[in-house]
Amino acid sequence: MAYSTLLVEIESSGVAVVTINRPDKLNALNAEVIAELDDWFTQAASDDTVKGVILTGSGPKSFVAGADISRFKGLGPIEGKRFAAYGQQVFNKIENLGKPVIAAVNGFALGGGSELALACHMRVASTNALFGQPEVNLGIIPGYGGTQRLPRLVGKGIATELVLTGSMINAERAFAIGLVNHVFEPTDLMEGARKLLHSILDKAPIAISLSLEALRASDLPLSVGLSHEAALFGQACATEDFDEGVDAFLNKRKAAFKGR
Ligand code: COA
Repeated sequence: MAYSTLLVEIESSGVAVVTINRPDKLNALNAEVIAELDDWFTQAASDDTVKGVILTGSGPKSFVAGADISRFKGLGPIEGKRFAAYGQQVFNKIENLGKPVIAAVNGFALGGGSELALACHMRVASTNALFGQPEVNLGIIPGYGGTQRLPRLVGKGIATELVLTGSMINAERAFAIGLVNHVFEPTDLMEGARKLLHSILDKAPIAISLSLEALRASDLPLSVGLSHEAALFGQACATEDFDEGVDAFLNKRKAAFKGR
């Protein structure tokens, strides 16, 4: 599928850089962007040339400034629920990709933009990034996962303040509350994201995928999450990469993982 709102570049290292490309609208999420993200992430799950993803926004000013507000005019309760449920489904697809996804937040990450970054496994930000859930200013609430993922990441108290006040926080504050992993100068952002992703792609791919799945279960009650972790640990023990990793360590050589 040819995309009109996404730029996609798959590098030889397996890093896919996906750029939401509506800079004149600060990369706001219209129906087309959501459908194209749905399509791309569906395909990427089974595309062996894609080992990990960096998701960013086009232009110097914005990652994603939210859902496209022009879509809200006249939205009724049935369509509203459908709108939120579909966005959540697409964002779940990102979270469940089975390969690491890093949001490189290069400016505004507001509303659906903040929620999109939250659906990624990690976030890095440029010093000019601004995060916020301003939905209450429009008489709505976050609908793409913000009331669920934000408190899980930064704690309920801070998430409540952000959602109820609609106020923006800068990159420094986002780092302090654990919303972003690293902050870079704007010119260093993509390189920083790439470096982080490469440090993961060195490792055994199935172990990375199983780790992501186990970490996802940290939302569940501890006893359920722990038994899930034990089952996934067992799966890792069935891989060739496990034999290779242990043998390489014992023989003081670098492991050559095959993703099997
Ligand atoms: N939906 C649709 N269009 C949006 C948008 C959004 N979420 N955010 C920005 N845009 C558009 C603006 O309407 C403007 O379009 P125009 O040039 O055709 O008028 C363009 O992007 C540039 O935005 P502008 O407001 O002129 O930039 P700014 O630097 O003055 O302000 C923001 C930037 C992010 C503070 C401001 O655009 C804003 O508040 N956007 C809405 C954020 C929001 O509420 N998001 C959550 C939605 S649920």
